[in-house]
Amino acid sequence: GAAVEVDIAGLKPGEKITVEWRGKPVWIVRRTPEQVAALPGNDALLADPKSERKPSELTPEYARNEGRSIKPEFFVAVGICSHLGCSPSDKFQPGAQPSLPDNWAGGFLCPCHGSTFDMAGRVFKNKPAPDNLEVPPHMFLSDSKLLIG
Ligand code: FES
Repeated sequence: GAAVEVDIAGLKPGEKITVEWRGKPVWIVRRTPEQVAALPGNDALLADPKSERKPSELTPEYARNEGRSIKPEFFVAVGICSHLGCSPSDKFQPGAQPSLPDNWAGGFLCPCHGSTFDMAGRVFKNKPAPDNLEVPPHMFLSDSKLLIG
């Protein structure tokens, strides 16, 4: 499939845009410094904190780090739940939903069966979704241009 070039110059901290790549929604999230700082605190609550499952399918080598990203502030993921394929919604704010973990620092919530993911697309334990969200192949062409695929 064709690679997709995305202009991220206007993307502000805390915002997300969605583009289509190979018929799938791909999210580009610009994390705030607070969201980046909160990631390590989730590790004990996650099913696969180091993204060791299905690495060749889900996490390119350059994204096998805490933020699952090339640059800490920019998170790129395929917005499809690893359970049955629904698209999780943004739950960037703590306290957004009573069933979320106490120390929820924001992330994504799948409306279909309640799987929750942190701001690096890592799935929380004891949820129906088995795996983290897929990080698609991507690279930065410049500070403001991202290539997906
Ligand atoms: Fe996401 Fe079931 S499809 S939790």
